[in-house]
Amino acid sequence: MKLILILSGLLTIQATVIKRETCDGVTVNGVCHRQEILHENLDSPASLNVDLKSNILYFRHILRNFEYTIARLNLDTKEFKNIEGVTFGYSQAVDRNSHDVYIGSIDGLYKYDAVDDKATFIGAKNATIWSMYYKDVLYYSLFPMKSVYTFENGVSKKYPDLEDTKVDYFLINDGFIYFINATGLYSQKKGTKDTVLYNSPYNGFVGFALDTKGKVHVCMIDGVYVVKKDSLTVEKIIDLDYVDGCSFDKNNNIVYSDGAKLVRLLPVSVKKVDIM
Ligand SMILES: *[C@@H]1O[C@H](CO)[C@@H](O)[C@H](O)[C@H]1NC(C)=O
Ligand SMILES: *[C@@H]1O[C@H](CO)[C@@H](O)[C@H](O)[C@H]1NC(C)=O
Repeated sequence: MKLILILSGLLTIQATVIKRETCDGVTVNGVCHRQEILHENLDSPASLNVDLKSNILYFRHILRNFEYTIARLNLDTKEFKNIEGVTFGYSQAVDRNSHDVYIGSIDGLYKYDAVDDKATFIGAKNATIWSMYYKDVLYYSLFPMKSVYTFENGVSKKYPDLEDTKVDYFLINDGFIYFINATGLYSQKKGTKDTVLYNSPYNGFVGFALDTKGKVHVCMIDGVYVVKKDSLTVEKIIDLDYVDGCSFDKNNNIVYSDGAKLVRLLPVSVKKVDIM
């Protein structure tokens, strides 16, 4: 019995006998995906983050005048817009519960109202915000000290769990903080200083990403890896030529930057037909 795959999207339906492994796009967990170009001709899009309710992707890129800005791209309608009113927007964080959006800049913290398209300054005046994450409260790290702070009710406080260490990027999930610095990838139970080091590449790290099911991923320059907490390792699930940031959309599809384009990986729909 031969397996015939009818590829959808063709004008005349072509039936081709192909091997199971054949994939023109990118394989994700053994499933063939095509690369949907969401937006192109961007300068260094990075720091990707999708609000799972609105399916809006927030990211940083560089404008023609060499300033950084945070922009938004609606992944359903492809509507694209730079966010105004923030000097040098560099990082952002989305609260997965309230869907509030926060922006970090070279001059403190902003809250962004996606409906009114309005950014409002909220605090940390003069601080250069390096990376951010929202989990119950807003966490941010400062450049160049790379120390982590929390911001709550207008007040910034040094985050005690990480007061002794340098942190480049971090993510908080399931009672653990995952972070990366110049020495490696670590996790640490919240409320402790019990740091564990992962057996993982860390040169070429470009960002953390939490999928819709709550699995922690790391985006590296050469692909996407899933973090395996039990074995303190990471496993490559997507092999790509160049990655400068990644996130997951509301349907748990990977969205990534290749340095100039924003791309989404969509499973190729195939129809299996049995031939007698
Ligand atoms: C921010 O910097 C300006 C200029 O150096 C200074 O006048 C101001 O007091 C600073 N504000 C805060 C809140 O640190
Ligand atoms: C990275 O974090 C670990 C764990 O806290 C720490 O031991 C190490 O010194 C840090 N590396 C740098 C370069 O600060």
